[in-house]
Amino acid sequence: MNATGMLRDDALKGKTIIVTGGGTGLGKSVSRYLLQLGANVTICSRRQAVIEATANELMEETGGVVLAVQCDVRNTAEIENVMTQTIEKFGKIDGLLNNSAGNFISPTERLSYKAFDTIVDIVLRGTYYFTLAVGKYWIENKIPGTVLNISTTYATTGSGYVVPSAVAKGGALIMMKSLAAEWGKYGIRLNAIAPGPFPTKGAWDRLFPEPLASMMDPTSRIPLHRVGEHGELANLAAFLLSDFSGYITGESITIDGGEVLMAGEFSHLEKVTTEQWDMIEQTIKQANRASKKE
Ligand code: HXC
Ligand code: NAP
Repeated sequence: MNATGMLRDDALKGKTIIVTGGGTGLGKSVSRYLLQLGANVTICSRRQAVIEATANELMEETGGVVLAVQCDVRNTAEIENVMTQTIEKFGKIDGLLNNSAGNFISPTERLSYKAFDTIVDIVLRGTYYFTLAVGKYWIENKIPGTVLNISTTYATTGSGYVVPSAVAKGGALIMMKSLAAEWGKYGIRLNAIAPGPFPTKGAWDRLFPEPLASMMDPTSRIPLHRVGEHGELANLAAFLLSDFSGYITGESITIDGGEVLMAGEFSHLEKVTTEQWDMIEQTIKQANRASKKE
């Protein structure tokens, strides 16, 4: 396992990247690495105090420049304000990381209409509003920008108990692929990362609350038997936002220690012991012999 920065120094020098939800969790970790690579970063989310504290912490830590602008991604005027302030401060926008999300675990039949709307509005509407606003600006100004969505593995498989999130992440994934086809002619690239479990307070409070946390170990279903490290995801995000990934577009890259592969019907058989395999082998061979005699 190696979560140290993989890109060379100044790999993102001169680039300006907007990170939605950059005040906490994975957005904060990716922002830190983008700054270390020389990018200017604007972070935005609903809680001004949170993004301001993060901006100050990251500037002190990396020596880079961070702009913090309050924004609810469901509000187009606030999105346009983030863009205006970013252009005023840094001159232009080169990248957008759609990272903001809302989510919680619940049987779907317990959800009110508003609960469903809340998640879909943050995750899907927020992503297409921001992507559309930045895309129009890039096309008008002939800037070859890059969008990266933080998706999930269940955007393609679906998942019970997080249905609004799965619906919204699935929609955002198809938008990303569709626009990669349509906007390639402008030099605009769009990609996604589909993470497995990466511990953050935001996700753990809402997806693994007690008593669930004591009942299930998220690493038990992961072939590599561990959760992800933020630095591992930051490396992939920085690469996909950089010019080094210049020929990759419309792609979603899974980073989950193999978790999604456990959907394979027999992939969970690692609990079978060697002695049991000996018995199973004999039983199968006996059946083989019997069928030859028929
Ligand atoms: C049922 C619930 C609920 C719950 C909220 N609601 N929590 N319903 N079960 N556990 C309902 C409320 O009752 C309300 O509906 C509606 O949802 C909106 O709730 P509010 O609290 O008014 O919304 P808001 O203040 O906007 O908060 C949004 C939020 C909150 C999504 C509910 O959790 C939030 O701010 N989340 C942001 C951060 C986050 O979620 N991070 C995790 C991302 S993890 P009614 O009808 O009662 O008014 C992720 C990773 C997935 O996406 C993969 C991991 C492996
Ligand atoms: P997190 O810390 O809770 O991040 C979510 C961020 O979204 C917060 O900073 C929050 O800030 C912001 N946000 C929520 N609603 C918003 C709104 N309406 N407008 C603007 N910003 C809003 O959780 P995380 O785990 O780092 O999640 C980051 C991303 O990774 C999400 O897209 C999530 O789906 C994805 N992901 C995470 C995991 C994991 O294991 N952690 C796995 C798969 C995918 P405010 O509350 O201040 O608005």
